[in-house]
Amino acid sequence: MNKKLIFPDSLADFPDWEKYEIERHYNPSCGKIFVERCGIELTPEELFARRHAGEPLEYILGHCHVDDDYIKTDRRSLIPRPETEELIEIFCRRASRLELAPVVDCGTGSGVIAGALSQRIKQPVIATDRDRQALELARENKRLNGWSVNYINCDRLSAVKGPLAGVVANLPYVFRVDDLVESVKKFEPRQALIPTENPIRFFVDFLTEAEQLLLSGGELWLEGSRELFQALKKTDVIPGNWSAVDCLEDGYGKERFIGLRK
Ligand SMILES: C[S@@+](CC[C@H](N)C(=O)[O-])C[C@H]1O[C@@H](n2cnc3c(N)ncnc32)[C@H](O)[C@@H]1O
Repeated sequence: MNKKLIFPDSLADFPDWEKYEIERHYNPSCGKIFVERCGIELTPEELFARRHAGEPLEYILGHCHVDDDYIKTDRRSLIPRPETEELIEIFCRRASRLELAPVVDCGTGSGVIAGALSQRIKQPVIATDRDRQALELARENKRLNGWSVNYINCDRLSAVKGPLAGVVANLPYVFRVDDLVESVKKFEPRQALIPTENPIRFFVDFLTEAEQLLLSGGELWLEGSRELFQALKKTDVIPGNWSAVDCLEDGYGKERFIGLRK
């Protein structure tokens, strides 16, 4: 006999996409939730209890979707955010004007940016991450989606050889642990969110490294916050050797993306 899936009242405020995703993976004949590709099998009660404790659905179901890509998600890496999809769009639009030299996604995590670029732009794509476990996840996502990306385990761009046509990065840019919402603080990897050193120093060094590797006319696009951009503008790396600086808002109207052209 089929078992109907009943959502508890405590989850009534959850967004419709979550209910849709849960229903999509629910098998009424055995009353369980399955995600075969990720080897996940659990009862609705187990899922609701974990969700109730604040665990993101993408970790519980072990995946999310970005465009047509199936992104395996677990605690080795940050869950891709809608803003990052905007960063991918921005960079893809710029890429047609760039040289046919490699581009680098620095701090690739799940691999989502590099993977999307490898399918949409002509330049070869390299991805770096300091965290070996995050890179393992990126490689699993490469296999799942058939991406063409070369991975390098290194700090920022330290092992990358230029010249590069472009650099794109969503590196950790949150200044204080207290700026994180509770579920993010509890479940997502801290090293993906907060720089381990002084954040301004971290980004000044990153911009300096990128500038040395980029071809003339090459571009760097960065996800960040208003606080980061204001702080960077007070340093001498911006404008520094960059010929143009652009700051774009995200879909929520917040200053989120900074672009620099060498
Ligand atoms: C905010 S997450 C972004 C993940 C993914 N790119 C995305 O947009 O969803 C930042 C990533 O940068 C990596 N990272 C942090 N510090 C780094 C460093 N110094 N060099 C290279 N990668 C770093 C973290 O391990 C993490 O995977």
